Order: sequence, then C-alpha cells, then structure tokens
Amino acid sequence: MGWLCFGSQQDRKSAETPLPPPKAWSPTSPAQPSTDSAQEPRLPLAPLTPVNRSNGAISPPAPDQDPWETGPTQFVSKKYKRLKKIGTGGFGNVYLAEHRDTHEQVAIKFMDRGGDIRLIRREIVNHSNLCHPQVIQFKEVFLTPGSVGLVMEYAPGGDLFDYIQQHGNLHEDQARWIFQQLTVGVDFCHKKSIVNRDLKPENTLVVSRRNQKPLVKICDFGYSKNKEIQSMLVSKVGTPGYIAPEVLEGGRAHGPPADLWSLGCILYVLLYGRYPFLVDADLEDQSGSFSQTVKKIMSAHYEIPEDIYVSPEVIHLMRSLLIVNPEQRMTVEQMWSDPWFRKNLPKDARLLNDKMMKRRDAYQTPQQIDAILTQAQRRET
Ligand SMILES: Nc1ncnc2c1ncn2[C@@H]1O[C@H](COP(=O)(O)OP(=O)(O)O)[C@@H](O)[C@H]1O
Ligand SMILES: [Mg+2]
Repeated sequence: MGWLCFGSQQDRKSAETPLPPPKAWSPTSPAQPSTDSAQEPRLPLAPLTPVNRSNGAISPPAPDQDPWETGPTQFVSKKYKRLKKIGTGGFGNVYLAEHRDTHEQVAIKFMDRGGDIRLIRREIVNHSNLCHPQVIQFKEVFLTPGSVGLVMEYAPGGDLFDYIQQHGNLHEDQARWIFQQLTVGVDFCHKKSIVNRDLKPENTLVVSRRNQKPLVKICDFGYSKNKEIQSMLVSKVGTPGYIAPEVLEGGRAHGPPADLWSLGCILYVLLYGRYPFLVDADLEDQSGSFSQTVKKIMSAHYEIPEDIYVSPEVIHLMRSLLIVNPEQRMTVEQMWSDPWFRKNLPKDARLLNDKMMKRRDAYQTPQQIDAILTQAQRRET
C-alpha cells in the first residue's frame, strides 16, 4: 500500500517510538520571546473556546428533525443500524452506524432534503470524486423520506478541534505531522479542481492509532466548489476564524489560495492553541458583524504569542500563508521546498497525489449518485 505515505509503511519504524505527550517538552524548554512579537502591537488573543464549536460559522441552521429518531417517518435503514449521534454541524447531524451484515462501522451524515438540494448535490458530488488517504472515504448515498444520508468512513478519533482541546497546543513536530497531511490532502483536492473553502479543525478528523502518530482526514465538503464545472467562486462562505480576506470581502472571485490561508490559520491554532484572528468579544456578538475580527483578517493582523516558543522557520511559513493578497500568498508548490515543511516529509508524499488522481472508491457510480440526488429533490414526507 505504497500510497498510504503517511500511513503504516513509512510509519512502521516510528511505531515503537510514539511522539512525546504534547506538553511534556515545554517545562524543560523555556519559552523564548519571539523576535517578531517585539514589533507587534499587543492584541487580545482569542483562546480556542469550547463554548460554541462552530464559532459563528456562516451557514444555515442545522435541521432539527432527527431522521433516525423522531419525525413523522421513524426511518429504519435495512442496511445500517444506528449506534449513536457523533456530530452536529451547520448542515446536518452525523451518526455512528454499523453495517448490518459486515458489522463495519461507518459515519452517516443526514442532510435535510427540504433545504437547498443544490448545496447537498455539490457536497456529495465533490466528496465522491475525492479518493485519498487524507480525505475521509466517501462510501455511498441513500435517501430517507426527509433526508439525504451520506455514508462515509468513520474516524474513531473524533475531530481535530477536540484533539487540540484535549492536548492543548502541540509540539512543533506534532503540528508539522498534522499540517503536512492536511496540506497534501488540500493539494490533492486542488489538483482535482475542488476548493474546500471551509478548512478548519472541526472539519478535520483524526484517526488515532496505537503507538503511532495520528492520521488526519478532511471530512466536510459542504462549502466546496469545483472550479471547472461549478459557477465562479464568489460567495462569502466559511468560518470567521479561518476565512480568507478575499472571501470575506465578497464579490471577488477566489480559489485555491483561500484554502492556503485557512491552512495558515490551522497551523497557528495547532502551534498556539488559540485563534490568530477571532476576537473573543466577537464570539459573544450575536449580530454576526464580527467587526474586530474582520479588521484583523483584512489587515492580516495577528500576534505571535510570547509564552510559547516556536522556531523562526515555522513562523516564516505561517507568515507566508497569512498574506492578504492571494496572489502573493504561498502556494503548495512553493511549500514543497520550504525547509520547515520538508522536514520528515514522507518521501513519496509529493508523488502520492498524482498517483491518486484516477482512483475512485465510492460504492456507487457517478450516474447512480446523480439518479439518487435527482430523486432527492422530490421530498416524500
Ligand atoms: N466520518 C466521520 N467520523 C467521525 N466523526 C465525524 C465524521 N464526519 C463528521 N463527523 C463529526 O461530525 C461533525 C459535523 O460533521 P460535518 O461533516 O462537518 O457537518 P457540517 O457540514 O454540518 O459541519 C464533525 O465536526 C465531526 O465532529
Ligand atoms: Mg463541518
């Protein structure tokens, strides 16, 4: 399985030497003040708040009808047995379920058929076209009377948001391992012409492995667009903590660089356990104006915390990603030769994406998916 370059093959050697616990190194390594911070005016830092996981995501409200438990239909799937609810997001509820015959565990995301079916179609079509170790595997889609069920690989480790909450800010080497995987996954999506537009730890799942470094996989393509076949990318979508300035501004075409901005924000969150731009007070503000946050994003104004030492190399990379002008922002192509990014990068990581381009592992053909989605337009409640 050579293509699992972040997976078992490369990792086997390091399997006996698990990464140190995230905080273990810090008491012995005194925090060194960053030279960058000397010039930065001090701004309030927004801690990762557990209060509201979606942190004001610009998205429609989650459907309150539970397709499996309540509602007029009391839906029972012949194929999958419900085990428990594992997630709620802007678009739907996610359940852990078990295949009744094979007992394989899967995750099923239910999206309300009463909503904008074009958005559901886009998410499903884009996700089903992405077969990659750093993208959660799309399996199939089915209909209940009120919902569209998206069946996918189950990631037992939860999402990266919870992981960071549990572990706190990560050691730079751990952050790199996660960041490299995410970048390779994002590069693959871009090669397939799909821009995610909502990359964030909540949309990144963790596959923890005994005595091995965790794998991460991108899971949510709810805001994704295929820049070849879907209309120009101009809508203002995403999540305030991670949204790129050109997307926030609205009305302007944007593309892959918007995902690179989000990667820069994620890197910051991994290293510091805080948001670079999201201002605490804005989280309380129900008006959705996010006034202070918007100002900070539009001027790429963030602080390099003094209490956590990270290397100048990673700060350089982060700064190159958090550049307001998308044309000047670092690209994945440039990242391949970045010294911090390249360190310990599995040697076939770059080739992996070319190899994966033609693979497809969905259980259904594009035609079958299309037929189901066409039927989904007719609500049967
Ligand atoms: N395949 C999966 N395995 C485990 N947990 C998942 C899976 N898919 C989603 N989740 C959990 O459900 C949450 C919501 O799913 P997501 O696809 O992001 O929905 P939304 O589009 O509504 O944000 C995720 O943040 C994650 O915690
Ligand atoms: Mg989500």
